[in-house]
Amino acid sequence: MTSAHVRKAVIPVAGLGTRFLPATKAVPKELLPVVDQPALQYVVEEAAAAGPDQVVLVTNASKGSVLAHFQPNPDLEAALERSGNAELLARVHAASQLAQVSTVDQDEPRGLGHAVLCAKDAVGDEPFAVLLGDDLIDARDPLLQRMLRVRAERGGSVVALMRVPQSDISKYGCANVGELIGDVVTIDGLVEKPAVDDAPSDLAVIGRYVLDPAVFDVLAATPPGRGGEIQLTDALDVLAHRGFDGAGGGLTGVVFSGRRYDTGDRLEYLKAVVQLAMEHQDLGPAFSHWLRDFVRQDSSG
Ligand code: UTP
Repeated sequence: MTSAHVRKAVIPVAGLGTRFLPATKAVPKELLPVVDQPALQYVVEEAAAAGPDQVVLVTNASKGSVLAHFQPNPDLEAALERSGNAELLARVHAASQLAQVSTVDQDEPRGLGHAVLCAKDAVGDEPFAVLLGDDLIDARDPLLQRMLRVRAERGGSVVALMRVPQSDISKYGCANVGELIGDVVTIDGLVEKPAVDDAPSDLAVIGRYVLDPAVFDVLAATPPGRGGEIQLTDALDVLAHRGFDGAGGGLTGVVFSGRRYDTGDRLEYLKAVVQLAMEHQDLGPAFSHWLRDFVRQDSSG
């Protein structure tokens, strides 16, 4: 059945966050603030807005604070109530009401594919979404909804693709594709972080997936690949090569051209904070004013 409602979203947050050390020594990168809420909250909000209302965080023993952010905090809420701060109380409370959030453990960071495999029992035999916890998609550009519709129409699995400058393709999984129809393309194969000269296209895999549960058996049989890690890209390459066989094979790309912020990268993180602060309801006007002055002074001095 291709139209099964997707109820579950897996969000892996068990990586080391080495690009952001030492900030991520004790604080998971997914909890770094983007303006006034953790990056991960944007991602959970996105999942819930698209449909899935059960979120499975793939985490590890050192990341207890990740789940705590999505649970009620009665002491804090009581203190805010006493101080009459109704608006903040509502925001704090809302974070615990977004979705039914649970965790599964990844004992060692053995790669994104391994992280997804750790969620197998929590997901069961149904299609599910995967969202990377440091990859923000602007709420005004609802990518995951679109991907869920494509999965319902075509079956198999669906990945989000984005055009990147050829020189950047080696940072991503890269898709070998057929003819693009609208924003949809059949994927013939995927290659993880190819050398620029070997890249089959400029279409990079970004951090949104809608996966058929057939991926779990493939992941279980996937050996460590690039970087010694079990790569989700390698498992999806197998599903792509299988084609749409009615047994979970087949891979479709949805080419995204909206706003995306990769908060796992320091420069992209800074851009995300500035862009989202400029548009923030309370802070936006004052911050934009200050930023314009700052840039003017900097360019004149
Ligand atoms: P990244 O490669 O961006 O995260 O993985 P990382 O490994 O933490 O970052 P760097 O490269 O060392 O700076 C994408 C997502 O997959 C999760 C990460 O937490 C991140 O959200 N991940 C990655 C896992 O959960 N487990 C892994 O073994 C690897």
